[in-house]
Amino acid sequence: MTDGIRRAAVIGYPIAHSRSPLIHGHWIEQFGITGHYDKIEVHPDDVRSFLMGLAERGLVGCNVTLPHKEAAFQAVQNRDRHAEALEAVNTVWLENGELCGSNTDAFGFLANLDDLAAGWGANGGPAVVLGAGGASRAIIHALIDRDVTPVHVINRTLPRAEALQEFFGSKVRAHGWSELLDLLSTCRILVNTTSLGMEGQPPLEVPMEALPQSALVTDIVYTPLITPLLASAQERGLRIVDGLGMLLHQARPGFEKWFGPAPTVDETLRSLIVKDLESHT
Ligand code: ATR
Repeated sequence: MTDGIRRAAVIGYPIAHSRSPLIHGHWIEQFGITGHYDKIEVHPDDVRSFLMGLAERGLVGCNVTLPHKEAAFQAVQNRDRHAEALEAVNTVWLENGELCGSNTDAFGFLANLDDLAAGWGANGGPAVVLGAGGASRAIIHALIDRDVTPVHVINRTLPRAEALQEFFGSKVRAHGWSELLDLLSTCRILVNTTSLGMEGQPPLEVPMEALPQSALVTDIVYTPLITPLLASAQERGLRIVDGLGMLLHQARPGFEKWFGPAPTVDETLRSLIVKDLESHT
């Protein structure tokens, strides 16, 4: 920060696709901060040394995206409980010269629902989560935090769902796809964390009529914004929340740590990112 400019960045491999510079750039401008947010491609072999040299590079912190979140978890000296639960770090900052790491994906998921479907978790679970990758783990952690349990995890590769059950304990139950129909009948919130429904991928087919009328359906896929899953839920008259807000809200804690002010997700930011997504499809 020798020139008085606070600098942060997002690291990944590849990194060209990242929307984080647009999000943070919007807030930097909004608050009139003397700051800058870059994207930096870092090879998987170099993640630890990059992070250890953060201050020397003039950075006050960084976001970490795929495939570096686990390496960042290993590299930081201090982790908060969210990082510990996910064994992955997406936000890094410095405190007394030490590297600190958090994972804000669960925060982003919850803040998006709180924003667009207020009161959504008031009656608890059951929740049904489709998929058992890194995103699924963040969402299970989030749902347990809000007592939206039990969380039924359905995955094509059953052992991955079972591993999540083992990690989180009895509030999580692993299932194969053949159990979907039965689980939907009492489901309060259905979350897709698989890549199905993303542009270029096959759609996710779920028998929407099996869900209670009060169920909420949400998807972490945001290209397209309204996935086939969300479209069919909407057609059935169910409440839906798209996945873009999770991306926007997960950026908030990092911005506050690095630059000071607490940013919000407003319509201007949302339409800025929607426009950018549309220009790349
Ligand atoms: P992430 O860490 O981003 O969540 P991931 O680890 O690649 O990504 O997980 C992707 C999820 O989508 C997995 O649950 C995957 O199921 P498997 O564990 O069986 O691979 C799921 N998925 C991807 N393509 C799928 C398909 N065609 N049918 C069913 N599930 C699919």
